[in-house]
Amino acid sequence: MKEKLITEFEKTFGAGGNIIACFAPGRVNLIGEHTDYNGGHVFPCALTVGTYLIARQREDELLRFYSANFEKDGIVEANVDTKEPLPNDAWINYPLGVMWAFGQKGHSLKKGYDLYYFGNIPNGAGLSSSASIEVVTGVMLNETMGCGYSNEDLAKIGQFSENEFNGVACGIMDQFAVAMGKEDCAIYLDTATLEYSYVPLNMKGYKIVIGNTNKRRGLNDSKYNERRAECEAALEAVRKVKDVPNLCSLKEVEVKKLREAFGNDILFRRAIHAASEDDRCEKAVKALENGDLITFGGLMNQSHLSLQRDYEVTGKELDTLVLSAWQIAGAIGSRMTGAGFGGCAVSIVKEDVVESFIKTVGERYEKEIGYAADFYVVSAGKGAGVI
Ligand code: GLA
Repeated sequence: MKEKLITEFEKTFGAGGNIIACFAPGRVNLIGEHTDYNGGHVFPCALTVGTYLIARQREDELLRFYSANFEKDGIVEANVDTKEPLPNDAWINYPLGVMWAFGQKGHSLKKGYDLYYFGNIPNGAGLSSSASIEVVTGVMLNETMGCGYSNEDLAKIGQFSENEFNGVACGIMDQFAVAMGKEDCAIYLDTATLEYSYVPLNMKGYKIVIGNTNKRRGLNDSKYNERRAECEAALEAVRKVKDVPNLCSLKEVEVKKLREAFGNDILFRRAIHAASEDDRCEKAVKALENGDLITFGGLMNQSHLSLQRDYEVTGKELDTLVLSAWQIAGAIGSRMTGAGFGGCAVSIVKEDVVESFIKTVGERYEKEIGYAADFYVVSAGKGAGVI
């Protein structure tokens, strides 16, 4: 892959000079959804698919971007000190944001780059193609400018760039999973402290199957920021009666006791989700460590119901995929993953029924929704780096 992409880079930008190749994976979150901006736990793993970046520093201040995924855009140019995102949600806003963020942290770009991107994560599927682009850009800048950042630093810079440059109030989960992934492991991350541990994915004859609704969604225009604001309002309401650091520090029973404090049912239900999901995440990790995949799967199912009923981020497409998955013997857990409102569902499926699972769920989905879903059988890969 690397050699092929370097050849493509040279065809696009010419040969010679010091060419660097980097990779950052995509991610799938197994459980712990919409908890990362509520001080809770998440349990994502990096995928083996991701974004490749081939780059070479220039002598001037020009940035020349090319994406093999958006061939028709051709080479897009920008200057190293771009301070605002370009209009029309251009994909180069993600790398531009990271370059801007490096500048904010004291590492302004003095020279430009020729940059060739290629991603094999399905675009806009909710498998963190944007975090992957951010982190791969960070890896390249860190290496070529000698900044000495750790991968954890690069995750934080990626999130900072997405929050401040691109205006999406995302949490740290995606960039962290992409930067810090480990082969055959998921990451149990406490988003309040950034303490984490790797948990081996002992799948015992089961596979992780991702179903893509193929419903396009952009975090920007979705209700993501609205949910985050609701959680902030819920926390503020609780704090009038109880001193708490964040929503996930509450247990579900405590949220129920404090019902009156929320003032309205929506804020109460958002808080119920945050508290109960954090609890499920902890229980699921314990179950996996004990080799109890069935319990893990059951918690995934409960997670989906909570995201559907209390957090209201699923929608017809995701519910159809997940409800169809629940009907299949051998599928022991299924839930939406990522921001929601479209994107993907993740299921744990017995190896010997994977094929029929994909066929049956795919047929039901197409019949209900009117267009096809895509399915990927994935495994956990390693985090970002120079390749
Ligand atoms: C998106 C965000 C993450 C996280 C998930 C929901 O992927 O980028 O930070 O909030 O949604 O769990």
